[in-house]
Formats: sequence, structure tokens, C-alpha cells
Amino acid sequence: MIAGGLLGAGAAAWPGALVGVFSAALAVGLHDAWRRRRLLAWLRQLQIGGPKFSDADLSAIQPPQGSWVDEVVDRTLRLVKAQSRARQESQQRLQDMLAAIQASPNGVVLLDPEGRIEWCNQTAAQHLGLDVTRDLRQYVANLIRDSAFGAYAAAGDFNADVLVAGRASTPSRPVRLSLQLHPYGQGRRLLLSRDVTLIEQAEAMRRDFVANVSHEMRTPLTVLAGFVETLQTLDLPPQEVRRYLDLMATQSQRMQALVSDLLTLSRLEGSPLPGLSESFPVQALMTQCELDASALSSQMGRAQHRFEFDLQGAADLIGVASELQSAFSNLVSNAVRYTPAAGQIQVTWRLLPDGGGEFAVQDSGPGIAAEHLPRLTERFYRVDRSRSRDSGGTGLGLAIVKHVLQRHGASLKIDSVIGQGSRFAVVLPAARVRPLNVLPVSSQPAEAPAMMTS
Ligand SMILES: Nc1ncnc2c1ncn2[C@@H]1O[C@H](COP(=O)(O)OP(=O)(O)O)[C@@H](O)[C@H]1O
Ligand SMILES: [Mg+2]
Repeated sequence: MIAGGLLGAGAAAWPGALVGVFSAALAVGLHDAWRRRRLLAWLRQLQIGGPKFSDADLSAIQPPQGSWVDEVVDRTLRLVKAQSRARQESQQRLQDMLAAIQASPNGVVLLDPEGRIEWCNQTAAQHLGLDVTRDLRQYVANLIRDSAFGAYAAAGDFNADVLVAGRASTPSRPVRLSLQLHPYGQGRRLLLSRDVTLIEQAEAMRRDFVANVSHEMRTPLTVLAGFVETLQTLDLPPQEVRRYLDLMATQSQRMQALVSDLLTLSRLEGSPLPGLSESFPVQALMTQCELDASALSSQMGRAQHRFEFDLQGAADLIGVASELQSAFSNLVSNAVRYTPAAGQIQVTWRLLPDGGGEFAVQDSGPGIAAEHLPRLTERFYRVDRSRSRDSGGTGLGLAIVKHVLQRHGASLKIDSVIGQGSRFAVVLPAARVRPLNVLPVSSQPAEAPAMMTS
């Protein structure tokens, strides 16, 4: 302005100076206005880009320049960059959290105050049959149609969960879900879903098991108590007393057998898996089976059973001897128990081409109808209750066999035809069988007879 004034004064004395000062002020004002406009336009561009600006985007928008403008631009840029970074970090945190919820084995549904779905993870979608995109903003009550859930949501008491059938549930493969609502934020709710099918099944099995054990115990106890009362109240002749005491002994043996089998099962459940360090000759197991079989057969008054024990290929078995002995003996004792007098029982051990081994018990007993076969190894499952009880069975024998075999990586094959007998075969994997390079036992009758008939 001073320069304008001096120039104007030089040209036309004081009026010129006035004009000069005025023109210079106008020029400065116009220039400032132009810079303000550019600054505003630049700020507007920043606003449009907003927090999504990356550092590269920011430097792509050319900022205006000029003395005071530089400072404004610099401060604004720093502010925008800091804000943008904070926004990106919080976006990343949100994404990480959602990814963590996605990875959760539980279903998670976020609901707005009106009960509409804001977000849900894949697990919840699978549990409840939701579509993670299509069903957003839908009322959850319209999508989960189970009346138990409707009542639960309406009652408003979310301290406990509610059990509903899963979307994939069918009568043959039921799926049970536990749903629980958790209020959070301002009127929002979190719906958690958990697949409790296995827990429910285990609980049902535990209940059945306790009921079965109680029932099995009560029957002999009732009989025993009846006899005790009779002996206490009636003055019976010694012969009758003897008969009663024999019957009582049978009942107490039944209870003992049951308790012993229960203890075996719980020991199997509680002990560590069999290692690969212990080994023993399969011949020893066969010999023990033979002894047990003839003892049981005579005890049952069925000494006429024809036994055949055949050991084809000597081998050492790797695992827990007492467990495998119990499994093998159980199969042999079943054959003895269920095969009528004069029946034939064939017990064979042979090596398999894949390096494994097979222990098989074939009998000429009554056979088992096909529909029972898949359930035979269930605890307390019997084809014929009274026959099992009469023969002193506890209903736990094959459950023990199955457990022992599972622990050794072995399997049980059952073939049976009604009226033609049954064949129970244990197939041991190669890892549990070490063949011995000796002549088959059947050619060394002096050491251990391969065939035995009793
Ligand atoms: N060799 C067999 N012949 C016919 N039925 C058998 C034989 N082995 C097992 N079963 C049937 O399988 C059921 C279950 O066997 P198990 O678990 O050993 O219980 P149990 O104590 O009754 O013998 C038996 O009750 C019987 O009905
Ligand atoms: Mg049995």
C-alpha cells in the first residue's frame, strides 16, 4: 500500500497517493479473498473425502499456499491425518473383534432394541438357519419360531438359558441348542447359541445308566430280603433252609458280578490309554480262555460243550494283558452261556495278511437277529433278558469288550444267523501284534494243545 501511495504521489501528488493506496488495498483484499476461496475449496475437498483419506490421498489434493494460509493448511492437515489414523485403527479393532467372534464355537447374534438382527456370526447362522446378509434387520422372533424361545424372550428373565431344537434337527439326529439373551448397551441384546446335543446325550446316558444300575441291584436285593425275612419268620426244615441259602448265594453272586463289571468299566474309563511297551504271548490269553471256558461250562452243568481252541501263528500282543484277557474271556464266556448243552464252540487266533491278528469265537448257539447286532455293545442291552439273567450275565460284558478294544485300536465284528450260531471276532491292528517266528502251536501238542475238547 505504501508502494502504491508513493507511486500515486509520484504520478499525481496527494490525490494520486490516495488513489495509489486505495488501489493497492483493493489488490491485497482481492488477493486475500482469492486465497480464502481456494482454502475453503480445499477444506471442502477434505470434508468430502472425510476420514477415508489415506496419507497419499491427502497429498494428492494440492493445498493452497500463502503466508497465513500455509499455517492453516499445515495445522488442518495434521488434524485430518491424526483423525484419519484413529478412525482406521478403530475400524481395524472392530474387524479384529468381529473376526474373533466369527471364530467362536458359539453362535452370536447382535440385536437392536427392537429385536432386529444387526449382525450374526456363521455359527449362529448355521445353528438357527439364518442367512448372514439376507436376514439382517429382520425380527429375530420371526426367524426363531420355537415356542419355548418366544416365551423366553417375552418373559424378559434372561438369567438362565432356554433349550430349543436346532434348525438341522431331525428325529434320527436330534440337535439341541441352548439360547440365552444378554442385555447390553442401550436396549440392545446379545443372543448366544450353544450346541448342547452331546452334553444332553451324555446326561441322558448318565440318567439311564443310574436307573439301570439301580434296577439291576434292586432285583437281587429284593429277592435276598425276601429270603432273609422268610428264614427269620418261618421255622423251616434244614433241607429247605439249605435250598433258600443256595438261592441267596446265587443272588449275592449276581450282585458281586455286577459290581465287579461296573468297577472294570470305571477303571477302563479312568486309566490312561495302553502304551506300546507291554507285550505278552497271545498263547497265554488262549490258555486262560480255555481254563475259564471249561470251568464255566462245568459250573453251568453243560460239560458236554465241544470246545476247539486253535492257535494259528504265535504272536506277542502289545497292550494291557489284563484288559485283553478280560475282553477275550468275555466273548468265550458268552459263547458258553448262550450255547445249549452239546453245542460246539470254536476259538481261533490267526495272523492277518496286513500284519494284524484276529481272535474269533464261533458258537453253534441260538444266534442273534440282525436288528439287535448294532446295539449289543450298549450297556445293559440284552436280546433276551431272562436268558441273560439265568445264565448269570450282567449285561455289561460286551460293553467292556468294546471299551477295551477301542482303547487298543481294535474292532469287534459280529456275524450271526438265527438258529445257526454267532461269530464274535476281535480284529487287532498290526501295531498291536508282533508275530513270533516259531512253529504254530498246533504242531507242538506237548506244550499247549491247539485243540481241546471237553
Ligand atoms: N454268543 C452269543 N450268542 C447269543 N447271544 C449272545 C451271544 N453273546 C452275546 N449275546 C447277546 O448279547 C447280549 C449282551 O451280551 P453281554 O454284554 O455279554 O451281556 P450279558 O451279561 O447279558 O451276557 C446278551 O444278553 C445276549 O443276549
Ligand atoms: Mg456276557
